[in-house]
Amino acid sequence: MRRRTAAIRGHGWSDQFGSPLPPVYLTAIFEQIGEARKSDRGMDLKYAREENPTVRAFERIMASLESGGDALAFNSGMASISTLSVYLLKAGDVLLTTKEAYGTTLKWFSALGEKFDVKVVKAYPDTESVVEAVKAVKPKAVFLETMTNPTLKVLDLPAIIKAAKDAGAVVVVDNTFATPILINPLALGADYVVHSATKYIAGHNDVVGGVVVSKDVDRDLWTYRAMLGGIMQPFEAFLCLRGVKTLFPRFEMQSRNAKAVAEFLAEHSKVKEVLYPGLPTHRDHEVAKRLFGGELYGGVLSFRIRGGRAEVERLLSSFKVITPSPSLGGVETIATYPILSAASPIPPEDREELGITEDLIRLSVGLEDVDDIIEDLDRALASI
Ligand SMILES: Cc1ncc(COP(=O)(O)O)c(C=O)c1O
Repeated sequence: MRRRTAAIRGHGWSDQFGSPLPPVYLTAIFEQIGEARKSDRGMDLKYAREENPTVRAFERIMASLESGGDALAFNSGMASISTLSVYLLKAGDVLLTTKEAYGTTLKWFSALGEKFDVKVVKAYPDTESVVEAVKAVKPKAVFLETMTNPTLKVLDLPAIIKAAKDAGAVVVVDNTFATPILINPLALGADYVVHSATKYIAGHNDVVGGVVVSKDVDRDLWTYRAMLGGIMQPFEAFLCLRGVKTLFPRFEMQSRNAKAVAEFLAEHSKVKEVLYPGLPTHRDHEVAKRLFGGELYGGVLSFRIRGGRAEVERLLSSFKVITPSPSLGGVETIATYPILSAASPIPPEDREELGITEDLIRLSVGLEDVDDIIEDLDRALASI
């Protein structure tokens, strides 16, 4: 089954009624007499904190989209990341990540360091620095984002994965921004892919969810999910199943809209700089072109305006179409002020070095008519 088809039919559901859609199993319990029944992956199906058929249907789609052998769905992207890291790491282990990443992920890694004695090393997000750090610190695990949040740096994932594997590290890639449409980290040798399904996977800003995709059924990670209790709930799984069916057309159109918006902003007199990997001016355009296939670059871009916090706040309050809010990847266009949201846990000295400054705005371009998005930006920029 090709991936475009797998997004719609990869749940593999069939039942005695001929329904092509998995039902929502709103139950906490399943009958058990003696040994528990087994789900299709051979795990116990007896209690919904452990396994649920609706959640399972969504997991099967995610495993095929990410070229994995199995997937586990969680009740948020952070539940996926925290459960996976508690499972992989113990006191004394080194976790290598980048200075720029989703703020709550970095905050959680700091907590792992402070409370559980994991040694967290953060490299500057360029390929050379990360590869050098891998060689120097010999990490137990390497955690990377395919596009960093919010300046959209794209590192040479195959080169880093190779270095990490040579050093014997487990590689985890957060593929939330790029989605399996742009890149399949597991096919490049990564061990786990994580998603905030809240974003492009579900796609409608109406559900919070997360996923870990692995090469094979990971029974121990399944047990950690059951112990920590972060499984996705059945109605949320239904929304994710419904959303992921249109992942391909949504992401393609959002990427095209984002490119048009990036090109518009790049020419605007009130805009200092546009950060979009699809623009030849972006630091990592060549790497992104090679890794993502040269056609689509995702629906998120960031830009710097001529002005500071007061002008940003004026701009955000002038929008009539665009919603000022955190998050990304949904059908609504959203403008985010990173220093007050996703990037706020990044220490100020790192923000400065990374270019996460007070004139920076992140835009997740949605599915509205692109002319309405551009007109809204033009009107708001005129107000600053
Ligand atoms: C790249 C990335 N990873 C993980 C997360 C966390 O996901 P969630 O909000 O679903 O817990 C986010 C949230 O914004 C994110 O942007």
